[in-house]
Amino acid sequence: MSETVLLVGGGGREHAIARAVAPDCELYACASNRNPGIAALAEAVRSIDERDADGIVDFATDVGATLAVIGPESALAAGVADALAAADVYTFGPRAEAARIETDKAYQRQFMREHGIPGCPDFETFDDTEAACEYIDGYDGDLAVKPAGLTGGKGVRVTGDQVTKAEAKAYLRDSDYDRVVLEERLVGEEFTVQAFVASEGSETPRATGRSPVTDGEVRTTPAVQDHKRAYEGDEGPNTGGMGSYSDADPTLPFMDAADYDAAVDVLEATVDALPTYAGVLYGQFMLTAEGVRVVEFNARFGDPEAMNTLPVMETPFIDVLTAARDGESLPDLSFVPRATVCKYAVPAGYPTDPEAGARIEVDEGSVERAAAERGTDAGEAHLFYASVDAREDGLYTTTSRAFAVVGVDETIGDAEAIADGALAAAGDGLRVREDIGKPSLVQRRIDHVDRLRE
Ligand code: AMP
Ligand code: GLY
Repeated sequence: MSETVLLVGGGGREHAIARAVAPDCELYACASNRNPGIAALAEAVRSIDERDADGIVDFATDVGATLAVIGPESALAAGVADALAAADVYTFGPRAEAARIETDKAYQRQFMREHGIPGCPDFETFDDTEAACEYIDGYDGDLAVKPAGLTGGKGVRVTGDQVTKAEAKAYLRDSDYDRVVLEERLVGEEFTVQAFVASEGSETPRATGRSPVTDGEVRTTPAVQDHKRAYEGDEGPNTGGMGSYSDADPTLPFMDAADYDAAVDVLEATVDALPTYAGVLYGQFMLTAEGVRVVEFNARFGDPEAMNTLPVMETPFIDVLTAARDGESLPDLSFVPRATVCKYAVPAGYPTDPEAGARIEVDEGSVERAAAERGTDAGEAHLFYASVDAREDGLYTTTSRAFAVVGVDETIGDAEAIADGALAAAGDGLRVREDIGKPSLVQRRIDHVDRLRE
């Protein structure tokens, strides 16, 4: 076993990454929290803040890392990929400049406009709160109000949906953001497409006559639908994501292959225009009456979406990493044709008033039994830890999402039944969105798009 991989981050997404690479490498991991799932897979874990570039470089050097994988955006924004690269550790995760496609929403929209990336909504950026409020008053239609910087998915307010225009203005006046983006409200169904990318950017000199760089360097994965709202029926405040599903083919039940292809075209055009980029490019899309529009880009795997994608990926993740490092074409990806449903168990009161310190029971054996009892013969259940506090007498909640279960099976309905059964193993003090992946909710998505397309 020749590769030594350093994983940065300690959430559910990183537990899924750890499970995907651990069989093929020596794994080391660092994060500010101790994730018991990652700890069980790694040779060693060290407690280091995800933004502590120097501490992470020291750890990488100590363990002789031949590759690094960065999970969270906070590490990308802090320049951890730049610092690791400067120490000669190949890092799957873009440098801070390229990660601005996620970390600076004003840059992201200007980048789309400048490079003619398809699917960009009408937008303006503001450094002055009062000018932004005037624009809201004068705008004919609803708007999404987006702080330019990172907010953990919780900073956006959409008028006509979550807030009135008066509330949007009060939100801006109370929050004191340096820069905001105001953009046309997109109406439709959201979906995510994530791609593995290893590209040489336009700033790198290229041989004359070479065609755009994406050929062989962008590998897309099946679409996923996340559920950001805290409560059943898409009510309540936005969260980091309460759960997500994917289908047995790359599309979702409310979209067709042309919609998926339109999303892939956006990702490829974006990679062509970006500086040198290694890592995952995540596109968040809205399927609207006018076609596929871009809600945002992330410079990393989604959380929870990584937990839908990696368990069904047959291609070893290590092969993607080594190909990217060694300047080879990325391997063609293969996925088992299975649907997945991921549900997060979160502390009571999450996200506004989360109750930390509640004791939780997680019985890994009953997670596995859920697959055997509820699914078809193809069924599987997975458990991914996120933010739990492991004390001597057991596991306790923190203020963030605690753990996720993923059902994998032939249909979304079967996968949901497995996830549901697996969650029965969770103790008191936790809440889940029961409706994610249930046939009635999926049907509502289909009906919504049918109505929009009429
Ligand atoms: P973001 O942090 O950009 O992912 O935004 C969080 C959520 O806000 C998205 O998942 C959407 O549900 C919503 N949102 C963002 N931009 C728009 C928009 N232009 N129109 C409607 N909803 C939006
Ligand atoms: N699931 C949304 C995100 O990872 O940002």
